[in-house]
Amino acid sequence: MLDIRTQVGIVGAGPAGLLLAHLLAVAGIETVVLEKRSREEIAHTHRAGILEQGTVDLITALGLDARLRSEGFTHHGIELRVDGEARRIDFADLVGRSVQLYPQQEVFTDLADGAAARGLDVRFEVIDAELEGIEGESPTIVFTDTDGTRTRLGCDFIAGCDGSRGISKRAIPDELRTDNFREYPFGWFGILTEAPPSADELIYAHSPHGFALISQRTPTTQRMYFQCDPSDDPDRWTDEQIWDELDRRTSAPGFALTHGPIVDKTVIPMRSYVCEPMQHGRLFLAGDAGHTVPPTGAKGLNLAAGDVSVLARALERHYREGKDDLLATYGTTALRRVWKAQHFSWWMTSMLHTHPDANSFDNRRQLGELDLVTTSRAGSTYLAEAYTGWSLIPTAPGYLDPASALGEVLASQLRGSGDMSPSR
Ligand code: DHB
Repeated sequence: MLDIRTQVGIVGAGPAGLLLAHLLAVAGIETVVLEKRSREEIAHTHRAGILEQGTVDLITALGLDARLRSEGFTHHGIELRVDGEARRIDFADLVGRSVQLYPQQEVFTDLADGAAARGLDVRFEVIDAELEGIEGESPTIVFTDTDGTRTRLGCDFIAGCDGSRGISKRAIPDELRTDNFREYPFGWFGILTEAPPSADELIYAHSPHGFALISQRTPTTQRMYFQCDPSDDPDRWTDEQIWDELDRRTSAPGFALTHGPIVDKTVIPMRSYVCEPMQHGRLFLAGDAGHTVPPTGAKGLNLAAGDVSVLARALERHYREGKDDLLATYGTTALRRVWKAQHFSWWMTSMLHTHPDANSFDNRRQLGELDLVTTSRAGSTYLAEAYTGWSLIPTAPGYLDPASALGEVLASQLRGSGDMSPSR
């Protein structure tokens, strides 16, 4: 057994783990990041594509925004299409904010390249990781390194950033952990197609045939989704059937969905989950390890950015100021933002999808809700505010201390330094 040590051991090198490692590096805190999957596997998994303004600001403050700016697209609004009628939600007008269309796997690549450039210790393809002693003073992560060496990583703290199927959350004893869970009776059929964009902005379409989302990727590739049976087999669908389904759900006067070769098909399950508490002893959960949202509204990565901002600042306060107040309240602080986003993701999902057991009352009520949200300024302002995102960190004392290295980085998103204009 090889014994090594670090200050913060991070389980998982997805966006949550890597963002945390970058933030801690700014604060002068040493980390080792361990990841089960290969770098290529993560980089090639298609994930959602919307970054809140605060997430963009954070990536910018870390100096990792070059590709996001040259290859991403700023969106100042979305269209809700209600049974063929366009209802635009104008983020810029309603809340003076915008979002960036830039897929999560590209964020991962930028964070991983940046980690290598910064000399961070990130190890992919390590296996059989186990957490030990999280209730004591010196927790450890035992794992088998890429070269086969069984290794014991001694840490001051462990950050569990290992996603919804990771080992970290299970280290919180069952009797202390509440698994708040909801499964939806539908999934998303996601495709990638080689076609030009069909519209300038994303279209979230409600229709009697089910929900569809027309998103984008590049000038020549588009991402689209439609509501399906969660147990559907993507290979059962021919391209023609897929286009028929997307066409009828997005149909509107004067609108034609651009078709092209379908180069990827997947069925995505829809779940809401929150682990409470999000910390135990010296273990802190962040990102999907602590919570899952259904994809509608693309909150997953943005929630991870909020968690690791709070956690990084709490750890900096421990090391630099000798205070554990922010660490003690990490979970409750992170959970406030998490539950707001849980509500938003559940709400967007419920409002836009066809529910298999809905009756005529439920269906008419849903249309009433869509009408309200898209015609009332108060209603659309809530959607715009939640979609573009809340502050990643609280303004409570301690978080934005300008004397701290991270206070400066974290404050950037409150000043709106990541102004995403001019739009592309
Ligand atoms: C995308 C995914 C979403 O869930 C969403 O709400 C918007 C965009 C996407 O993959 O582009």
